[in-house]
Amino acid sequence: MDLSRLDPKRMPRHVACVMDGNGRWATRQGLPRTEGHRAGEEALLDAVKGAVEMGIEYLTVYAFSTENWRRPQDEVRFLLGVIADDLLTKRRNELHEIGVRIRFAGRRDWRVPKWILGRMDEAAELTRRNKATTLTVAFNYGGRAEIVDAVRALVAEGTSARQVDERALRRHLYQPDVPDPDLFVRTSGEFRISNFLLWEIAYSELVFMDVLWPDFRRGHLLEAVLEYQNRERRFGLTGDQRDHDGLPG
Ligand code: FPP
Repeated sequence: MDLSRLDPKRMPRHVACVMDGNGRWATRQGLPRTEGHRAGEEALLDAVKGAVEMGIEYLTVYAFSTENWRRPQDEVRFLLGVIADDLLTKRRNELHEIGVRIRFAGRRDWRVPKWILGRMDEAAELTRRNKATTLTVAFNYGGRAEIVDAVRALVAEGTSARQVDERALRRHLYQPDVPDPDLFVRTSGEFRISNFLLWEIAYSELVFMDVLWPDFRRGHLLEAVLEYQNRERRFGLTGDQRDHDGLPG
C-alpha cells in the first residue's frame, strides 16, 4: 500500500463502514449467499490491517443490524457463526497481536444468544489495552435504537427536560468516548445510510464505492481516505471561517 499518497496531517481519526454486497457477490459467483459473508470476513480482516498501517484510530463496521434478524433463519445462524467462530475465535489472537482493540456496539437484548455475548466480552477483555486501532463491530445495532436507548437512559436517571441537550444525549450513546466518524464508507454502489450511526455521522464525509464488500481490500480503504482528503470540511461554517477557527481540514 502506497502510504506516501496520504497527507498525514489530514487523516480521519474514525472511519465507519457499511460492508454491503456480500449476497450479490456470492450470487454472481453461483454460490450461496452465506459464502459472501464468509468472504466478507476475509475482507474485513484486510481492511482492519490497512487501518492499522494507516494509523486510523477507530474503525466501526456494520456487521448485523436490528433489522437483519428478519433474514432467513439459516442466513442469520450463519452470520452469527461467522462473527462468533471466525472473527471472535479464530481471528481474535491475530487481531490482538497487531494491537487491535475489539469492541461491540448494539443492543444486548434477548435476541443475542448468551454464548455470543460471552465471546464478545472475552474478545473485548483480551484486547482492551491495545492501542493500534479500535475495531468496533456494530452488532444488533440500529441508529434509531441507539438514540432511543440514550433517551431511555436520560429518563431513567431523572434528567429534566431543561437538562437535555446534545452533550447530555451523547453521554448515553453506545460509544461516548469515541469521536464521531470523519469518514463514512459504503460499498456495493448503494447510496443509503441504512440506519447506521445516525447521530454520529451528522458531519461525516460520505464516500460510496462500487466494489462489493468481499472484494474490498486495504487499497480500497486507502482510496476512500484519499477521497476524504480531497474534500473540504466546513462543519456548517464558510471555508474562510473554518481556516480561522483551526478546525480539522
Ligand atoms: C451486507 O451484505 C452485509 C451484511 C448484512 C453483513 C456484514 C457481515 C460481514 C461482512 C461478515 C463478516 C463480519 C464480521 C464482523 C465477522 P448483504 O448480505 O446485504 O449483500 P447484498 O446487499 O448483496 O444482498
